[in-house]
Amino acid sequence: MKVALGVCGGIAAYKAVEIVRLLEDRGIRVQVIMTESAQEFIRPLTFAAISGEKVITQMFAPGGDREPNIESAIEHIAVAQSIDALLVAPATADVVARFAQGMANDFLTTLYLATTAPVILAPAMNVNMWEHPATKHNLEVLRNRGVRVVEPGSGYLACGMTGAGRLAENEAIVSATLQALGAVEDLAGETVLISAGPTRERIDPVRYLSNRSSGRMGYALAEAAERRGARVLLVSGPTALNPPSGVEVTRVESAREMLDAMLRLLPTASIVIKAAAVSDYSVTHPQDQKIKREGKTTLELEPTTDIVAEVARRKTSQIVIGFAAETENVVENALTKLQSKSLDAIVVNDVSRPGIGFDSERNAVTILTPSDTIHVAETTKWEVAQQILNQALRLQQERKAMAAH
Ligand SMILES: Cc1cc2nc3c(=O)[nH]c(=O)nc-3n(C[C@H](O)[C@H](O)[C@H](O)COP(=O)(O)O)c2cc1C
Repeated sequence: MKVALGVCGGIAAYKAVEIVRLLEDRGIRVQVIMTESAQEFIRPLTFAAISGEKVITQMFAPGGDREPNIESAIEHIAVAQSIDALLVAPATADVVARFAQGMANDFLTTLYLATTAPVILAPAMNVNMWEHPATKHNLEVLRNRGVRVVEPGSGYLACGMTGAGRLAENEAIVSATLQALGAVEDLAGETVLISAGPTRERIDPVRYLSNRSSGRMGYALAEAAERRGARVLLVSGPTALNPPSGVEVTRVESAREMLDAMLRLLPTASIVIKAAAVSDYSVTHPQDQKIKREGKTTLELEPTTDIVAEVARRKTSQIVIGFAAETENVVENALTKLQSKSLDAIVVNDVSRPGIGFDSERNAVTILTPSDTIHVAETTKWEVAQQILNQALRLQQERKAMAAH
């Protein structure tokens, strides 16, 4: 795994050297990017020596006499695509503001816009700068965009004042980064059964009924759960995706095959997440021969078995999480489903919103449990997957605590 570490111009810049070492101790490659101001505080050479990688210090190559280098000319895009997370530590008030505004006036801010990897900020600044409404507002904007903020601590600050604004402890910053990478093995010992993708209901040998599900949400869940230490059983309808490594895949086509596979694997699982978009109907009389075009015709459909309801009905101690793709009365309809199907949680997609959900890299969801409503603002499916797994883990821990009493 590879992390880009943005270092900004503050007194705490020197602490980032230790962060590089802590990440590398965990086998993570670190590409350091320094803002121009950061280089007033610490020399790039220190980071180059520690990380063993060239440090990026500017957007444009210096000197007019050099031939433009195409590789470095598009470096911000290359780095954006190659990293698994962007960590900024220390993050200045200035960089927080520029990220919030979507500015791209140096390498770090351009990288922030160009990457789809999770972003973690560890701010450090004078207490008044930290408490200024402008900084608070900017951080709120970023949080709503899915950026993780490692809150600064309180204490004596380099400026001589006392209060909030000290860079968080390095271990806390590293731990938030590992969490964003899905590299914390907090699901070790769990077996997570996930269904993903669409189903296909046969009409005749060449035609079928299906839907727009790409399978990306379920595959992101499978990969994230695997990285967090779980054994993962993935029941997948037809998709164009490569299954994540380490995941045990059962391939199915129809709703009936998906139901059979899920019920067969259910006793092995401790957490079940139904992310598949299962066809609500199958064809009553699929034809053995291709149907000819001969005027009007009617297709008789019958309802398929509601897989998640069936799984919830047969569960023993498993946590069961369903998905609801709604286009109207989104939360109300999902609450009804949560209760009527006795689920532990339901993840609600508003599929009527353009650019997210079906067939997209991004999603915005609401996770409903009997006691909580968690809104996950638009972000990558990877980040949504992490939030769903956090809830699954929380529900599992609550259940275990109840059982122990
Ligand atoms: C000695 C000194 C210490 C500074 N410490 C901080 C700091 O801890 N946090 C902060 O947000 N800005 C701090 N600043 C201000 C930033 O360096 C300044 O806003 C700069 O433009 C930030 O550039 P950058 O965000 O591109 O790194 C400090 C400035 C000086 C001169």
